[in-house]
Amino acid sequence: MNAVARLEQLDVGQDTIEQGFTALHSPALWRRANVRMIEKALSELSFEGVIVPQVETTDGGTQVFTLSLDGGGFRWHGRVNRWQQPIILPGSVVDLSSGEQAADATAVLAAVLAPLKLPAITLANYLRETLNTLAADTQMLASREGLRAIDWLALPGDRLQSLLDGHPKAIPSKGRIGWGVEDNLRYGPERAPAFQLQWLAVRHDVGRLNSTLDWDADRLVAASCAPSEHACLRERLAAATSRPENYWLLPVHPWQWQAVISPQFAQLLSDGRMIALGEAGDRYTPQQSLRTLNNIDRPERPNLKLPLTILNTSAYRGLPARYLAITPALSDWLQGLLASDALLTECNTAALAEPATAFVPHPVFHGLEGVPYQFDEMLGAVWRESTEQRRTAGQRILMASVLQQCDDNGVPLVTELIRASKLSTQEWLSRLFDLAVVPLYHLQARYGLGFIAHGQNLMLRFENEAPAGILLKDYQGDLFRADAAWATSEGLAPEV
Ligand SMILES: Nc1ncnc2c1ncn2[C@@H]1O[C@H](COP(=O)(O)OP(=O)(O)OP(=O)(O)O)[C@@H](O)[C@H]1O
Ligand SMILES: [Mg+2]
Repeated sequence: MNAVARLEQLDVGQDTIEQGFTALHSPALWRRANVRMIEKALSELSFEGVIVPQVETTDGGTQVFTLSLDGGGFRWHGRVNRWQQPIILPGSVVDLSSGEQAADATAVLAAVLAPLKLPAITLANYLRETLNTLAADTQMLASREGLRAIDWLALPGDRLQSLLDGHPKAIPSKGRIGWGVEDNLRYGPERAPAFQLQWLAVRHDVGRLNSTLDWDADRLVAASCAPSEHACLRERLAAATSRPENYWLLPVHPWQWQAVISPQFAQLLSDGRMIALGEAGDRYTPQQSLRTLNNIDRPERPNLKLPLTILNTSAYRGLPARYLAITPALSDWLQGLLASDALLTECNTAALAEPATAFVPHPVFHGLEGVPYQFDEMLGAVWRESTEQRRTAGQRILMASVLQQCDDNGVPLVTELIRASKLSTQEWLSRLFDLAVVPLYHLQARYGLGFIAHGQNLMLRFENEAPAGILLKDYQGDLFRADAAWATSEGLAPEV
């Protein structure tokens, strides 16, 4: 079986769980994950100025980096790029105290961070997140083993997304504190698992749906449920209450349901203000952000962004009430702005609409003065237009971080895209610049709007593998408006 066919067959049954533990404890995969992590860590820490290696240029023109530490240090080969960041030759990092290749990432981090004299709790948490990241990385490496760059591009967008390296700068990028190995296999992107959601009936007085006019509560359920499934949820509700008309239905991530909602919202569930209706509807698969899910049974239906109270890359991944309240209005306004600007329409600049959100405040935490944010963001949802709905025949839409991705032989995916486009590299990159950088700059300079357009928030549209436009997403909490008189506010509701 070739690697693509093998990927297509992955499903998270008991077998996959066992395979997951096997991958995690496989000497070869564990070593590879560690070696990659060490290279990333030394490169990023040098860039940030946390460590300062000595650099010598050899006669052959390559550079040798030496980091001396008490009792040892590390040496590697590579080159300094134009941002003064060392790009490390894969496999070249040597531990000077043993003379062998460095292959224990947490030991390397503990050694290079020692001079900072971090509080032990800070260092230990950092190393714990690093070990969790390595565990997820072994799954990632196992899933993509043997795939060449060109094979990656033959995969459907969801599947390709699941194989990406993840955050390019954060060292413990898959810390996911709160998840165990099985949770990662069931709900992390690395294995592209498919799972159904849990459903809750929420009484009108305990939570709020916010939506633009044409998205009512029924249409939101239909976004995830075929008519028969929807009818089944209605029957379960009718069996549980004599007043079903007093409730609306909310999808919940299955991990969040069992780990957080069930115990923390038990009061509402026991007195009937919320009713658990069980699993139902279409199957979903996680995007790289973990908490946003694609509907894989009907990909043109909206994505769902659902709270996950786990700590990942510096934040608990919940959903805050204050953003949810204004999201549909903000989304509508942004759609209008993009459609009204000649440069943006010419560049095919779009944003994925977020027509509806929901939030259920915790009955005690929500009003507790000074409570940390993660206690107040446990239950809610964002419905986001899927890229599939925006894609026209012959196009593909990919996360922008694909541009930074190499296969495990070091071949960049972008070289295959450029080759397939039949454009010269310069022409391809110029189009990318014109269609991605220029619109983002225009939004900022003309309207005072700043997007956090990192590789996970920006989607690229390709036609015949050539850049053909961008899609912005994830602006509900992360859109900045310049505090200046010229920044645009026309048509923006005051509360937004
Ligand atoms: N290339 C990448 N760049 C940035 N973050 C990435 C990347 N790949 C994976 N991630 C992960 O995606 C998340 C990015 O955080 P961000 O706040 O932008 O997204 P989100 O709000 O969680 O979800 P979404 O973008 O789906 O709305 C983090 O959990 C981060 O670790
Ligand atoms: Mg994001």
